[in-house]
Amino acid sequence: MSTILESARIDATGARSLYSDRVQLIDTENAFKIGPHIKRIEDEGNRVIKCNLGEPDFPLPAHIRDEVKRQLDLDMTHYTDPQGILALRQTIAESMGKSRGLELTADRVVVFPGAKPPIGFCQEAYCNPGDEVIYPSPGFPIYESFTRYLGLRPVPLHLDEASGFNFGAAELEPLISDRTKLIYLNFPSNPTGGVATKEQLEEIAEVILRKAPPNVRVYSDEVYEAITFDGRKHVSITSLPSMIERTILVSGVSKTYSWTGGRIGWAVFPTADEAAVFKNLNINYYSCVPPFTQLGAKLAIESPESPIAIRTMVSAFQERRDVVVALLNAIEGVSCQTPGGAFYAFPNIGGLLARLGVIDAWESLPIDVKARTTPSTMFQYFLLYNYRVATMDRRSFGRIGSEGKHYLRMSIATGMDDLKEACRRLDEASRDRDGFAAWVAEGKNLY
Ligand SMILES: Cc1ncc(COP(=O)(O)O)c(C=O)c1O
Repeated sequence: MSTILESARIDATGARSLYSDRVQLIDTENAFKIGPHIKRIEDEGNRVIKCNLGEPDFPLPAHIRDEVKRQLDLDMTHYTDPQGILALRQTIAESMGKSRGLELTADRVVVFPGAKPPIGFCQEAYCNPGDEVIYPSPGFPIYESFTRYLGLRPVPLHLDEASGFNFGAAELEPLISDRTKLIYLNFPSNPTGGVATKEQLEEIAEVILRKAPPNVRVYSDEVYEAITFDGRKHVSITSLPSMIERTILVSGVSKTYSWTGGRIGWAVFPTADEAAVFKNLNINYYSCVPPFTQLGAKLAIESPESPIAIRTMVSAFQERRDVVVALLNAIEGVSCQTPGGAFYAFPNIGGLLARLGVIDAWESLPIDVKARTTPSTMFQYFLLYNYRVATMDRRSFGRIGSEGKHYLRMSIATGMDDLKEACRRLDEASRDRDGFAAWVAEGKNLY
């Protein structure tokens, strides 16, 4: 780590670098970063099928939209409580508590502009440099991204396809050390679609309670809580005995109400004192979250119309999941498990990459180029530029230990016809050896 930091300070001409050491270490969420590539292709008059972003393709339900408009008309456009409007926090405490069998109070709730900000804030608030952070890999990239930014030690919990991308006590226990400060959990999971059972969570909770001291925090990212398939019910680790006292329980409106632009997320903290620390981070970073969207979120949580809209969306996702998983599995060299929740397919494309010559092509790249890409990254860009389908490569979901793992994430939050066409193009691309060889020879967009 110190060599990376030292080299970041001085540039090739010997001058002090423009940027801080830390900002050069932060990673990103490639689902957004791929945007300019898509735009370039679209600007040339081509339509890209976008299976990259984790964004429901349903409109914001009308009753929520109307409430946001009403709040604007009521002039709810000024600064508000940096912790979140009390009425919204009360609604969150009540609904999150009710669904998890807990008594929660509004003073433990903090509202953020989305469920993303508390990911980094928790590392800032609970960890010192050198402290260890455990997170699932493949997993949401922001967990790992902040560890390097803050000088923490990333400890990926590698999820194995052979175990259905699941883990239990045996996988978690060896990773917990006396430097562990934060443990991220994410069910239903992005990108694997894994849904935890109560038994699995009981195992995980038992290890945490036994092995981690009380000041280690669990971060339970439950943003996909409403999106489960085949009659599965979301179970939160906070509903297990003693877990809410150590867990930061996080959710938001982006996925549940198809409202990614609303930028409302929230966390329930173990104590009101901890919530106050995060309120102060809010004050330092952005003062508060827009009040008209907060009050729209309050209505979204309370309205009896919301469960109907959610059911419509989830059953569409389930139907698409069934079609996409079947189409992917029909492609030679692809195997895709059936996700139990969220809205992603996460196929293993190792056989496809070998067949298409991607792995050989990657092996033959000049060493500096090879270090900057992976076989699944190369296929991702080949598919995007030559077949106009946007997907995400494996390393977009945690870089550490992603070498030699060949997966793609395909969001199924896109219309059925487009999804079928995307799978057809993927199949066609998988057989286009000459096209791929020519694309590699061109040497553009390899990473
Ligand atoms: C696991 C996970 N956590 C958090 C977020 C952030 O969501 P938001 O839009 O509420 O910031 C996402 C978004 O893709 C996610 O997949």
